[in-house]
Amino acid sequence: MTVQNGLKVVTIGGGSSYTPELVEGFIKRYDTLPIRELWLVDIPEGEEKLNIVGELAKRMVKEAGLSIDIHLSLNREEALKDADFVTTQFRVGMLDARAKDERIPLKYDVIGQETNGPGGLFKGFRTIPVIIDIIKDMERLCPDAWLINFTNPAGMVTEAIYRHTNWKKVVGLCNVPIGMKMKVAKMMEVDADRIHIDFAGLNHMIFGLNVYLDGEPIIEKVIEEMTTGKGMTMENIANIEWDADFLKGLNLLPCPYHRYYYKTDEMLTEEKKEAEEKGTRAEVVQKLEEQLFELYKDETLREKPEQLEKRGGAYYSDAACNLINSIFNDTGDIQPVNTINQGAIASIPTDSAVEVNCIITKNGPKPIAIGDFPVTVRGLVQQIKSFERVAAEAAVTGDYNQALVAMTINPLVPSDKIAKEILDEMFEAHKDYLPQFKKPTNV
Ligand code: G6P
Repeated sequence: MTVQNGLKVVTIGGGSSYTPELVEGFIKRYDTLPIRELWLVDIPEGEEKLNIVGELAKRMVKEAGLSIDIHLSLNREEALKDADFVTTQFRVGMLDARAKDERIPLKYDVIGQETNGPGGLFKGFRTIPVIIDIIKDMERLCPDAWLINFTNPAGMVTEAIYRHTNWKKVVGLCNVPIGMKMKVAKMMEVDADRIHIDFAGLNHMIFGLNVYLDGEPIIEKVIEEMTTGKGMTMENIANIEWDADFLKGLNLLPCPYHRYYYKTDEMLTEEKKEAEEKGTRAEVVQKLEEQLFELYKDETLREKPEQLEKRGGAYYSDAACNLINSIFNDTGDIQPVNTINQGAIASIPTDSAVEVNCIITKNGPKPIAIGDFPVTVRGLVQQIKSFERVAAEAAVTGDYNQALVAMTINPLVPSDKIAKEILDEMFEAHKDYLPQFKKPTNV
């Protein structure tokens, strides 16, 4: 790494409303993570947002008295040159595409969600070719850089990079595990650094196998709390209560996204109601974003506004900056990230992406082996992994039949007939962003 004069970090999708989170995280860690240049990169359609959030980033850095140069750019190649870390947080088709991912499946009585079920599949189809293009640029312009991907669906994207490119310096990151840890700490009324969770699973399909307070196991207590009105969730997921008997039987800590699989009927009813009354999550977020960008325009604002906490991505900057800091400083601490399995979870292919506790070193994450999941959840995790694998393959090859298989084997989709109907409608809705798929002859 070209560290003598500090690091060069490039954020693709830099016009995102989440950027102030990231900038705050870098400012807090400047002593151990000396960033010389932060390049915020976007596409022409995102230029206005980039300028607004970029100016706020500059004010934040100035207020902190730090000499981090913030560059705003629409030229990805110029930005990537000699980067040390590249972070990706873009949304192909922006929130309008997400709204379609959420709305179309509902017509067929199927969960409409940005990273799960049909929505997650199409987000993957739109995103994976773009990330592969970014990697081609990185191979030429910054071959030693680390790619830290937050772009969803983070598990499928990590899978696609590992299995369909030669790029190995990639880590996929999500805020769900850190969010779970913070919620457990709040539940127990202790500082988060006294809580440790043995995390393992896949992105948005991660379990806490054990939970500890100061090294003492407390999972029974946490489950008890979760079934007495404190069920943890995130801003973007309806807080439907867990069934106490089920959770006690499971004896694992599910993540908020597990509700889509274990409480499918209730979540679907809730989603349909919300979509009718307030709009889907993307439509709600569009309004939140308008308010956020109005705030960001205020030249007296010099810090991350509290309103950003209404977004589902809370703590994501802590997760991201801790990870970059640990790679850079070779700390060897434990963090849950998306990386290649390498046998850490016995029932998942060794060359597939998993989200699991890892020791973070300058050579990347070293997954901590768990043996295997209890049989109670092993099948579901394997099924989602099969879905992600086939989906990533289809995203790369543009093969319609593979896409149909991916849709059909997703546990949220009831049959091949409905899978095909949703698939064809979504192909039509997103066709501008799916050049790799030739139009199927039967549509
Ligand atoms: C959670 C997920 C993220 C996702 C976010 C959406 O935090 O872990 O992967 O991007 O929610 O939040 P939003 O506010 O956009 O609905």
